[in-house]
Amino acid sequence: MTAVAEQASPTYAPARVDDVAPVLPVVGASTLVPLVDGRSVPYANLDVAASAPALEAVEERVTRVLPLYASVHRGAGHLSQVSTALYEQARTTIGAFVGAREDDVVVITRNTTDSLNLLAGCVPADAAGHPGRVLVLDVEHHANLLPWQRDLDATVLTGGASVAATVAAVRDELADGVETGAPYALVAITGASNVTGEALPVAAVVEAAHAAGARVVLDGAQLVPHRPFSLAESGVDYVAFSGHKTYAPFGAGALVGRRDWLDAGTPYLAGGGAVKRVRVTETLWHDGPARHEAGSPNVIGAVALAAAAEALSAVDPLTLAWHEATLRARLVAGLEDIDRVRVVRAWDDAVDPVGVVTFTVTGYDPGLVAAYLSAEHGIGVRDGRFCAHPLLGRLGFDAGAVRASVGVGTPGSDVERLLTAVRALVEVGPQAQYDVVDGLWVVVGDPRPVPQGLGLTGLLATAALGDPTGCTPLVAG
Ligand code: ALA
Repeated sequence: MTAVAEQASPTYAPARVDDVAPVLPVVGASTLVPLVDGRSVPYANLDVAASAPALEAVEERVTRVLPLYASVHRGAGHLSQVSTALYEQARTTIGAFVGAREDDVVVITRNTTDSLNLLAGCVPADAAGHPGRVLVLDVEHHANLLPWQRDLDATVLTGGASVAATVAAVRDELADGVETGAPYALVAITGASNVTGEALPVAAVVEAAHAAGARVVLDGAQLVPHRPFSLAESGVDYVAFSGHKTYAPFGAGALVGRRDWLDAGTPYLAGGGAVKRVRVTETLWHDGPARHEAGSPNVIGAVALAAAAEALSAVDPLTLAWHEATLRARLVAGLEDIDRVRVVRAWDDAVDPVGVVTFTVTGYDPGLVAAYLSAEHGIGVRDGRFCAHPLLGRLGFDAGAVRASVGVGTPGSDVERLLTAVRALVEVGPQAQYDVVDGLWVVVGDPRPVPQGLGLTGLLATAALGDPTGCTPLVAG
């Protein structure tokens, strides 16, 4: 456990967390959503692991910057130069947020998936010209699995029963690669599982990888929104993360890390901005971030991500850790206290997991549980296999599960609402009738307005009224 988490973690789960306040204000915290019984309630967003709401600080920054927005890098106009400066300053801020070393490169991407696909094109071949070897665990999100399998020589190691056993297996596999003359180039590992919130200790993985001559890329999608992270301090070589999970849902993410592979690798997108000179028969590519950022860059996305980075960095790490550890501890203990509820774990000895908790309710399909939580309680969760099919399959959850996740904008009362709702499901059952239509669980005769049918005008009017039930139901009976 990190020093901060040790100080901040409650030693026992609190009995209730109704009075735990959010750490930072997020946009839309009081948005109302309709229930099947005709009432409207504030939306309890317990799906921040999928996409987090924008911080108010992000909204303010974007609103201030939009009047200054113009073309970047290629424009001579004053606002083009302002926009270019804003974009490059955002790059610097994003690098600082993840403790970039002086010579690290910060590539602005679309999201974590984009970042990891980009890096897959930069892992060097071995001396004989074979694609680089990549070691990855079966606990990974598909974004940190499929790029390595498609483009490189990937070995997928089955996670062990404990963290200690899994680290030992990683160490053995890396050593085996060295002994057999086929060393790994890269270890691709999650900073926090998007299913369980757990992770291997980064220091142990870095030490094992570097000892075997391999680099480490961290899938930071679920880590950096929750914990301070530093490339320089951890020794991790690359980190990938997403703005939309870091309270900046404006379409930017980042890949940050060592320059040599990125400068030598295949330019990620071929096009304008990535090149120094083009002749019909010859192209001279840039190095640095420009090499991988062809096309007009996402200035507003980068500015938004930088604003989120600044706001998160300004929070006392103890406050951040205490808030999340408290909500997670209550969530896990509260769920495990309910009959027929089982919390999914990859490792029983994982320390300091982030606020992502996956569970099942025996007798209820995960899709039904999620539909019920939305329709009868105004709670948003995710159900399914969370783009982590190998892990869910190995742990025996091929039929899927339900995931609740918390973030800096989550009040403790949302956690209590979820626990109350799940307990009511188990003790009383759902009040509405549910059925599967086109593979999705829906309320039979749902009286709520159907978002897909409202059109932009209807959706905005709904939001402006703050009362979605004020809309004429488009589907009734
Ligand atoms: N990768 C996102 C998740 O885990 C979408 O939900």
